[in-house]
Amino acid sequence: MTDIESVQKEGRVFEPPQGFRDQAHIKSLAEFRALYDRSIQDPEGFWAEQAKTLVWQKPWSQVLEWKPPFAKWFVGGKLNLSENCLDRHLATWRRNKAAIVWEGEPGETRTLTYLQLHREVCRFANVLKELGVATGDRVGIYMPMIPEAAVAMLACARIGATHSVVFGGFSAEALRDRMNDAQAKVIVTADGAWRRGAVVKLKAAVDAAVPAIPSVKSVVVVKRLGDDIPMSAGRDHWWHELVEAASADCPPVALDSEHPLFILYTSGTTGKPKGVVHTTGGYLLQTALSTKYVFDLKDEDTFWCTADIGWVTGHSYVVFGPLANGATTLMYEGAPNWPEPDRFWKLIAKHRVSIFYTAPTAIRAFIRWGEQWPRKHDLSSLRLLGTVGEPINPEAWMWYHAVIGASRCPIVDTWWQTETGGMMITPIPGAIATKPGSGTLPFFGVVAAVVDKDGKEVPVGDGGYLVIQKPWPSMLRTIYGDPERYAETYWKRFPGIYFTGDGARRDKDGYFWIMGRVDDVINVAGHRLGTAEVESALVSHPRVAEAAVVGRPDELKGQALVAFVTVKQGQQPSDAVRAELKEHVVKEIGAIARPDEIRFSEALPKTRSGKIMRRLLRDIASGKETLGDTTTLEDYSVLAKLREDEE
Ligand code: PRX
Repeated sequence: MTDIESVQKEGRVFEPPQGFRDQAHIKSLAEFRALYDRSIQDPEGFWAEQAKTLVWQKPWSQVLEWKPPFAKWFVGGKLNLSENCLDRHLATWRRNKAAIVWEGEPGETRTLTYLQLHREVCRFANVLKELGVATGDRVGIYMPMIPEAAVAMLACARIGATHSVVFGGFSAEALRDRMNDAQAKVIVTADGAWRRGAVVKLKAAVDAAVPAIPSVKSVVVVKRLGDDIPMSAGRDHWWHELVEAASADCPPVALDSEHPLFILYTSGTTGKPKGVVHTTGGYLLQTALSTKYVFDLKDEDTFWCTADIGWVTGHSYVVFGPLANGATTLMYEGAPNWPEPDRFWKLIAKHRVSIFYTAPTAIRAFIRWGEQWPRKHDLSSLRLLGTVGEPINPEAWMWYHAVIGASRCPIVDTWWQTETGGMMITPIPGAIATKPGSGTLPFFGVVAAVVDKDGKEVPVGDGGYLVIQKPWPSMLRTIYGDPERYAETYWKRFPGIYFTGDGARRDKDGYFWIMGRVDDVINVAGHRLGTAEVESALVSHPRVAEAAVVGRPDELKGQALVAFVTVKQGQQPSDAVRAELKEHVVKEIGAIARPDEIRFSEALPKTRSGKIMRRLLRDIASGKETLGDTTTLEDYSVLAKLREDEE
C-alpha cells in the first residue's frame, strides 16, 4: 500500500506558444535543463554567479554554510535590500519609470516612479530612526494595500529594522499576539481602508491591541480615509506630518547577508502562529531571480500580483521581486467584486496589465460569477498568467486559460510556501510545457522529491510526501524565538530533509502534482486519497464552482467521503444533481472515490488568504456540529474567520 494513492487522470499538455518562446528569457527546455543541471551539480558556483546580479556592499566569503537544519547563505557578505530595489535603478533610465501603480477601491490612482519611491522610503526611514528604531529592532506593519505599506517595508529594510506585516483583515487580538511575539517597537497603520465599499477600521484595532503590547512605543498612522479618529498624544503620529519634516537623505545601511529582513506569522495546524524568519541576501536573490524567469519579466511589462502584502506572496511578488527587477508593479486596495464582479478585468484593461498572478480561490469565484464579466473587457494586454496558494483544479486551469488568457497566455502554476520564501516548483513559461493542475518542475537549485513514510523515493505515479532535499537561498532560517520548533516542525520527520507537509506525486515526465496537505488525506477502505484529486473531479462537472472533500469516521470503511459543493450561479442544488455528481466522480476517478455524502453550501469556510479550511469541515461532517443538508455554510464561514483570528 502506498502512502497516498493517486487517482487523477489528467493528460492534457500545453506547449509554450512559439511567439512566447521566441521572446522569452529562457526559450527551450534544453536551455532550462542546462541551467537547472548546473544549479544542482554546482549549487555554490551557480548561486555565486547569480548573486552578482545584486549590489553588494561587501562580497561574501562563503556561498553556503549548512549545519542542518541551519543554513547561512553568502556568509560575510553585506548588502541592503532597499538599495537593490531602489538606488541601483536611479543610475539608469528607470529613475522616472513607474515603480508602483496604485488604485484604491473607490477608483483613485497614484503612480510612484523609482525616484519618488526612493525619496519616500528615505524619508520614512529617517522617521523610523527619529522614533528610536535602530538596526535589529522590529516594526509592525498593519496596513491596507496602499503604497505606504511598500514604503514602510522598504524603509525598514533600509535601516535594518525587521518588519512584521500583519494582514489588515486580522483582528486586534491576532495583531496583539503577533506583535508581542515579535516585540515590535513601532506599529505603522492607517486610519482605515476600503473593502467592498465598507470601511475597515485599522486604527481602532490598533487602539484596542496596543495597551496589551508593552514593547510598542509609537504608532504611525497614514491618513487614508480622513475620518476624525482619536490620536493618543505622545504615542500616535500622523505619517504625513512626520514625513514632511524628515530629510530625504538616508544612506542604506550595509547589512549582513543573514540579517533578518522580516518575520511573517503563519498559522500552524495547532497552537500559536509561527513567526517565519527570512533573512536578506539569499531571500532577495531567489525572489528576484524567480520573478525574472518565472514571469519572464521585461521592462515593458505591467505586473500585477493580486496578493495582499499581509501574505508572503505580497512580500515576494508585489514588492521585493518586481522592484529588484526594476519592474512596474500594480497594487490594488480592494475587493475583486466591487462595485461589480468585473473589477479585476477593468483594472487589467485600464492599466494594460501584461502579467497577472492570482490564487485558485479567486479563479473559482470568477468562474462562479460567470464569464460575461471578463468578456466585457479588453484583456489583450495580457501575455502571461500565474496562480499560487492551493492546487488549481484542472477545469479551473482550463477556464483561466481559455477565458482570461484567450488560449494564448501560458499559465505558471507556482508551488511554494511562506517558509520557502520564493517559488520552488514552477513552469518556466517559454521553456516548460504545462499540464493543467501541475506545478511542473523544480526551480533552479531546488532538489524536490516524493518519498514514502521511511523517506524512500516512491515510484513514478505514486503518491507520497513532498520533501526538499537540499537547502535553498530563500529558505526560512528559523521560527522567531523558537529554533526547537523550527527543527521539530520541518526537519525531524525526515532527518536533515525539509518536510513540506504536502502530498504529491511525480509523473513520467518528472512533473510534480500537489495532492493537498497530508493532514487532510482521507483514508477510505485502506485507500489514502489526497483532497485535491477528488475535489478536481467534482469541479470538472459543469454545474460545480468549488468543492471541498473531507473524511468522517465510518465503521465499515474507516472513513466515509463527504463533499461540500458550491454550484455555479444559476444552478440549483437538488437530489438529482447530488446523484449526478456522485456518478461523475466515479466516472472520473473510480468507485473508491464515490462521495458517500454531498452537501451543498453557498460558500466554503476559508482562511483569510483563501484556503479551504478542511479541518472545520471535518468537524461539521462528523456531526460535531449538526447541519441540515441544505443549510448554507455562510454562518460557518464566519465562524471559521473568527477561529482563524483566535489562533
Ligand atoms: O499546500 C501548499 C499550498 O499552499 C501551502 C503554502 O501556503 P502559504 O504558506 O500560505 O503560502 C502560500 C503562497 C506561497 C503549500 O504548502 N500551495 C501553494 N501554492 C500551491 C499550493 N498547492 C498546490 N499548488 C500550488 N501552486
